[in-house]
Amino acid sequence: MTLLRIDSSARGSSVSRRLTSKFVEDWKQEHPSGTVIERDLSRTRLPQITDEWAGTYADPAKLTPEQREYLAISDELIEELRAADTIVIGAPMYNFTISWPLKAWIDQVTRVGKTVAYGAQGPKGLLSGKRVVVITARGGAYAGTTRATMDFQEPYLRHILGFIGLNDVTFINAENQSNGQAAASREAAVEQIHQAIAQESNACVEVGC
Ligand SMILES: Cc1cc2nc3c(=O)[nH]c(=O)nc-3n(C[C@H](O)[C@H](O)[C@H](O)COP(=O)(O)O)c2cc1C
Repeated sequence: MTLLRIDSSARGSSVSRRLTSKFVEDWKQEHPSGTVIERDLSRTRLPQITDEWAGTYADPAKLTPEQREYLAISDELIEELRAADTIVIGAPMYNFTISWPLKAWIDQVTRVGKTVAYGAQGPKGLLSGKRVVVITARGGAYAGTTRATMDFQEPYLRHILGFIGLNDVTFINAENQSNGQAAASREAAVEQIHQAIAQESNACVEVGC
């Protein structure tokens, strides 16, 4: 079993990072011989989409040295996704959506021929059979409130992850981090992490991992 942990907050005191750490700690207890791949997007230099991105549509044998060099990080990030059985993503909410390092990661891993294919029926995600847990941290509260329509984080992530074939996605939202309910919300998130890992272990027992 392989777990890919992705962090996208650069804050040292990050709530989402503390919760992905907790997820990894609990996951390791359930899977002592499992492998954990750590991808910290605040320490990964991700390129912008430039003309070299056209190399993603070219015959790999015909890539220029510049295109090959440019696409190396995209290839590496996609290999990490392919290797993972479970993916945990820490996502701070910034301005009602995801942080730019997470968006830059999405731009690198959403790639025709590698994670999505276009056919007669339209686009088809190529990553399948993986479980994703997204742990968000938010200053306010959105889920089940009148502010739900301002949440452009969870709907966007569900859509883009599904687009590349990741449809089994659980959200754990640590909301209210800017008010008096912060600690209670983090405790609730830790409980949901326990439940998510227990569910994964039960699925392993039923269908094998
Ligand atoms: C630049 C910036 C923008 C933010 N925008 C929002 C927002 O739109 N909605 C919200 O609920 N909280 C917002 N927050 C609060 C963060 O979501 C909150 O601090 C959260 O804990 C950040 O995740 P992290 O602790 O993992 O870094 C914002 C914080 C920053 C620094």
